[in-house]
This record gives sequence, structure tokens and C-alpha cells, in this order.
Amino acid sequence: MLEFQLNAISLTKRSTGGVVEVIAVINYKGGVGKTTVTANLAAELAWRGKKVLLIDTDAQASLTFSFVPPDFWDQNLEESMTIKSWFDPISDGQEPPSLADFVYSPEAVNRRVESRGGKLDIICSHLGLLNVDLELATLLGGANMQQAKRNYLKVHGQLRRAMQQLEDESDYDIVLLDCPPNFNIVTKNAIVAAEKILIPAKPDYLSTLGIDYLQRSVNTLIKEYNEYSNIEEDGESISPEIMGVVFTMIQYMNSQPIAAQRQFMATVKRSGIRTFDSKFRENKSIFSDAPQQLIPVVLNAYESHTHSQVVDEIEEFVDEFMETLEADIV
Ligand SMILES: Nc1ncnc2c1ncn2[C@@H]1O[C@H](COP(=O)(O)OP(=O)(O)O)[C@@H](O)[C@H]1O
Ligand SMILES: [Mg+2]
Repeated sequence: MLEFQLNAISLTKRSTGGVVEVIAVINYKGGVGKTTVTANLAAELAWRGKKVLLIDTDAQASLTFSFVPPDFWDQNLEESMTIKSWFDPISDGQEPPSLADFVYSPEAVNRRVESRGGKLDIICSHLGLLNVDLELATLLGGANMQQAKRNYLKVHGQLRRAMQQLEDESDYDIVLLDCPPNFNIVTKNAIVAAEKILIPAKPDYLSTLGIDYLQRSVNTLIKEYNEYSNIEEDGESISPEIMGVVFTMIQYMNSQPIAAQRQFMATVKRSGIRTFDSKFRENKSIFSDAPQQLIPVVLNAYESHTHSQVVDEIEEFVDEFMETLEADIV
């Protein structure tokens, strides 16, 4: 019965138009597995029949090249089909075009999920995104406080407005924004656009510090945005929520995480932030080969017992992820 009700609610939400959930995947630290978590989550959701849009907002473009061959990107996408091209007109003081015009459907992964009714699309990234950030910064400020606040809202709310427009134009169930390891204007756009924030983290000293700092930065951004938004007549407040921390690169010994990692996981839990029970184990060969094959680990054929263990754990994470989303909808 409960399951029926949950389904009915998601269906109702979806039938009123497009996007059900927008989730930003972020951590201040690089190399903690953000992109790997994003790619596998998206692929598994598409395998389960969801229509997923990925937006790669990291200039390093790792997510992009986990689905799109570099040669193809060079020849067909680099010039006018990336998130940089979408942001460029804004830097020139113009209104941004529709996000829908920048969407690419990578072939390999879609061949895999098509028969299940799912879809995985991506808006690719570009190294030049670093300059976009500098250009957007020049649009901030103003002749007086009022104007400066208005410019702040305009610059940081671009992706949010575009996402609302995309809801009417498309049939995506979930949008995942893979963020860079910083808190620049593009990242802030992703957070302002998101309803939920997912934090992949490695259980080590620096990552643990980073989570606390990230939480504070997100809270400051929300407070600032809403404060400025309140002075506008049609101002809209934002309330992106932290869904939780998913631990990555877990090293097991005697079928439990090694002591040092257990200690950092406990520290994060004690801080009061929600943590996912399911985790991504460390396996360099399995995870580092996948991007080149353009199909995430979770959809690859089982090559070994370890591989199937890794896949099972990712599937468990996606179960938990969906339960968390659905619990929040109710
Ligand atoms: N669970 C894992 N086990 C082993 N290596 C991993 C795992 N997750 C990611 N990696 C590897 O670590 C590197 C950084 O991962 P990535 O997902 O790109 O992190 P981020 O997006 O946080 O920078 C990549 O080379 C990736 O293949
Ligand atoms: Mg990344």
C-alpha cells in the first residue's frame, strides 16, 4: 500500500510536468569520487527506467568523458554544445538560451538502457568554464546596494530559472549536477538550482574537515540568496537540503572498513549530518577502466566476484538514494 502511494505521488508529480528532482553532487575536495558516484547513480537510475539528465559543471570534464569519446567531443560538441556555450551569452549581458538545446544523448550507455525505458542525457563541460566564472564575476556589484543585490540574484539564479523552463520542455525525472571542487559562481548556480545536495566523501582527515566547511558555505549561500530575494516583489526563496554523505573508496579488511576509515565515518555521523549506509568500496582497476569504456561500472558485465560485489553495493546505494528521495516527497 505504502509503495503504491509512493508511486502514485511520483506519477502525479511527473504528470504535472518534467523535472521531479534536481540534485547537486558536491564536495570541496577533488578526487573523492564525486564523478564516479554521479556517473554510476545516473546509469543505474536510467537502467531502472528513469529519464536522467546529467550536467557537468566541472571544467575538468571527467563526467563528460565518462560518456562521450574525446574525439567526438572535439569535433561535434566543443564549439557550441557544452555548458560553457550556454553560459557565454549571460557573460555578454544577454538572456541564456534554453538548456534543452545543449543536451547530448551519449550512444553507448543509451543502447544499454533503451530497452528498459530509461534515458541518460548529458550537457557536457569544457575547460573554458574557468573563464566563464571570471566573466560572471564582472556582472556582480552595482551603482547602489539595491542594484548589487539584484545583480547577485540574477547572476546566481541563472541555472535555476533555466531548469524551471526545462521542466516544461522535457520529460526528465532526475537532473544530477556534477560540481567542481570549489565554491565559485558556477557551483553556486548549481546549488541555487538544486533541491537536494549529495556529498560523496572519502573517510579521511581532510575530507571530513571539508564536509563541515561545505555545510557552512551552503547555509551562508542560502541565507544570502533568500535575504536578497525577499526585497524583490516576486522574489523566490530557495531551500536546497543536504541528502547525505555517501562514503567512497572504502578499504575493507575482514569484511569491514579499516579502522582509520571507521573512525572518520564515525566523526562525520557524530556531526549530525545524514550518512548513507551503503558505500562505494575502493577498487582502482574496476573504477579507473570504466570511463574509457563509456559505460559506468554498474552496467558492465560481471567480470569477477569482486566486480559483482562492487555492482551489488552500487545498486544498494541507488536503492537507498531512491528511498531517501521518496521519503522526502511524502
Ligand atoms: N571507489 C573507487 N575505488 C578506486 N578508485 C576510484 C573510486 N572512485 C573513483 N576512483 C578513481 O579516483 C579518481 C577520482 O575519482 P572521481 O570520481 O573523478 O573524483 P572527483 O569527481 O571527486 O574528482 C579517478 O581516477 C577514479 O577512477
Ligand atoms: Mg569530478
